[in-house]
Amino acid sequence: NNMLSWQRTAFHFQPDKNWMNDPNGPLFYKGWYHFFYQYNPHGAVWGDIVWGHAVSKDMINWLHLPLAMVADKWYDINGVWTGSATILPDGSIVMLYTGSTNESVQVQNLAYPANPSDPLLINWVKYSGNPVLVPPPGIDMKDFRDPTTAWLTPNGDWRITIGSKVNKTGISLVYETKDFINYTLLDGWLHQVPGTGMWECIDFYPVSLTEKNGLDTSVNGPGVKHVLKASLDDDKNDYYALGSYDIKKDVWTPDNPELDVGIGLRYDYGKFYASKTFYDQNKHRRILWGWTRETDSELADVKKGWASLQTVPRVVVFDHKTKTNVLQWPVEEVESLRSNKKEFNKVKLGAGSIIPLDVGHASQLDITADFEIQKDALEGIMETDAGYNCSTSNGASGRSALGPFGLLVLADNSRTEQTAVYFYIAKDTDGNLKTFFCTDQSRSSKATDVSKEIYGSIVPVLDNEKFSMRILVDHSIVEAFAQGGRTVITSRVYPTKAIAGAARLFLFNNATGAAVTATSVKIWEMDSALMKSYPDQQTA
Ligand code: FRU
Repeated sequence: NNMLSWQRTAFHFQPDKNWMNDPNGPLFYKGWYHFFYQYNPHGAVWGDIVWGHAVSKDMINWLHLPLAMVADKWYDINGVWTGSATILPDGSIVMLYTGSTNESVQVQNLAYPANPSDPLLINWVKYSGNPVLVPPPGIDMKDFRDPTTAWLTPNGDWRITIGSKVNKTGISLVYETKDFINYTLLDGWLHQVPGTGMWECIDFYPVSLTEKNGLDTSVNGPGVKHVLKASLDDDKNDYYALGSYDIKKDVWTPDNPELDVGIGLRYDYGKFYASKTFYDQNKHRRILWGWTRETDSELADVKKGWASLQTVPRVVVFDHKTKTNVLQWPVEEVESLRSNKKEFNKVKLGAGSIIPLDVGHASQLDITADFEIQKDALEGIMETDAGYNCSTSNGASGRSALGPFGLLVLADNSRTEQTAVYFYIAKDTDGNLKTFFCTDQSRSSKATDVSKEIYGSIVPVLDNEKFSMRILVDHSIVEAFAQGGRTVITSRVYPTKAIAGAARLFLFNNATGAAVTATSVKIWEMDSALMKSYPDQQTA
């Protein structure tokens, strides 16, 4: 199907065909980045889940490997589900994953590389004594999954956390182990939040308050905060919060209870789920992988023969300026695909203006754009807009004094299709200005079987900062980062006209009150990443 083939991406991770969901067990080993993922070898919908596997030198160009683990034991015959890797001090790898048993009970299993001297880690062995953990008393057999990477306690024990729920309260159970075979369930929970439902794919890791680098999962101490992330099964979004971890009491406490896990910040205000970080000991950074599902119909997925993407891996750090959020930024390696740079400086965007940007191939782009608004316009704003909300207000066409302004990506010449990524500045009843960052998909496609939501949230903009965004455009995915990654929005879009050579790019300013200046816009065309199969399967 010629039409749908345009939706395949050029620099986002995806298997050749079929369904993919969560990232699993990412790690760096003997010079290679390993990526495993939830995969259905039999079709483009969820089911028959096994572990796909690929390796890379840069997390951008990939070599697809044979399946790492298939559903061949009673304890995972209904699915080899999500898990995480731990690298022990001697360099060996421990993999813990959830199995859905012959009776659909969720249990935790142990696996390890068959041949540790193979840098590609092609073959995996499941521990003969699996499962190593079964649902404890009081936990439903179907609410016990997705073990984290383990962290070390000062007395040499390892701990992991596993998500669950009790009634409608999302909880994180903590187990202690010396050998990854025998475990003790600790009293109480690492954390719990009423009303948030089942916590899938918990992630728990330290961030440095003083340094730019990432931290190994076991690091703790005064210069550190801990991020706790849960994927809420009920609304399919990844929520995180910053807090402190008391390793003696084994309790994590949020910095701000109003922004607790599941009720406060999200990693991404578009489609981003079941994410997982790992510490990259190669470049001393913490990398975030996240799954982006389709927002078209299941029928369309079956027709095109594949479903889902992974976002470009992101470096995640504590935001030392705001101190209230993390920053996410695409790994620097993606910049190796940049070519044909175009630069536009000091572009004045009068009220209601739309300016085409002459770039080459606009369906594979990396864009950075800074905007400025005259100070007096910011100060003189009269109307209040306290109820503004990206999703329920009027999107890119809803005009007010100071917004929206930004870029239209994956647009066709006459803009019958366009995806708008923009800032909108609203004045609160208390007089304060609040900046929103949104993506409007309402005109993203002529197709009628796709979701066309408007996504977004508030983004902190500090005094003397420009309004800055970065956008990765890749055929059917748009990843948008505001203010260096304080607020992020990932969208799947399905243009029917704005494809390949017909895709265009525009600057726009729909504000009524203010002249906005795009002080600096840089646009690179993105080359396609290499995706190969091993052993190199020749096709006729
Ligand atoms: C999250 C999830 C996990 C589970 C896996 C199964 O998307 O539901 O909780 O382990 O997917 O594929």
